[in-house]
Amino acid sequence: MEHTLCIFKPGVIERRIVGEILSRIERSGLAIVALKMQQLTQSQCQTHYAEHQGKPFFNDVVRYMISAPVVLLVVAGIDAVTHLRRLCGATDPRQSPPGTIRGDYALEIQNNVIHASDSVASAAREIKLFFTTSEIRS
Ligand code: CMP
Repeated sequence: MEHTLCIFKPGVIERRIVGEILSRIERSGLAIVALKMQQLTQSQCQTHYAEHQGKPFFNDVVRYMISAPVVLLVVAGIDAVTHLRRLCGATDPRQSPPGTIRGDYALEIQNNVIHASDSVASAAREIKLFFTTSEIRS
């Protein structure tokens, strides 16, 4: 069973669409094995997005990610990384068709509603950054 990290980005709680997005993930067959709401710190976000350090959007995305509470989840299932990425759609919501989470709920690339790890190695690193082993249902 593969694990992946998912973040409902700032704005999702305020828009009251946490349940809708959660339900899409669960209905797709993936299981929620950890879940919490948290205000992220600058340092956590800089580490989380370290691969983007130096890119023009890096400071803006970090600022955005600490602007309001987020929902953090560990999601499990067969091929969970690929499966969740497919549900989310393309990073740029304008390239993301209706039926995907970003296609249905997002308009701009920065505020693209949801983050999902892009590989099994990233998932392992990102999960460790936000969750202790005891917080994850085995
Ligand atoms: P995410 O999947 O969380 O990974 C990196 C984030 O940086 C991305 O979603 C967007 O929120 C943000 N971002 C802003 N501009 C860009 C860009 N031009 N390319 C990729 N990601 C971007």
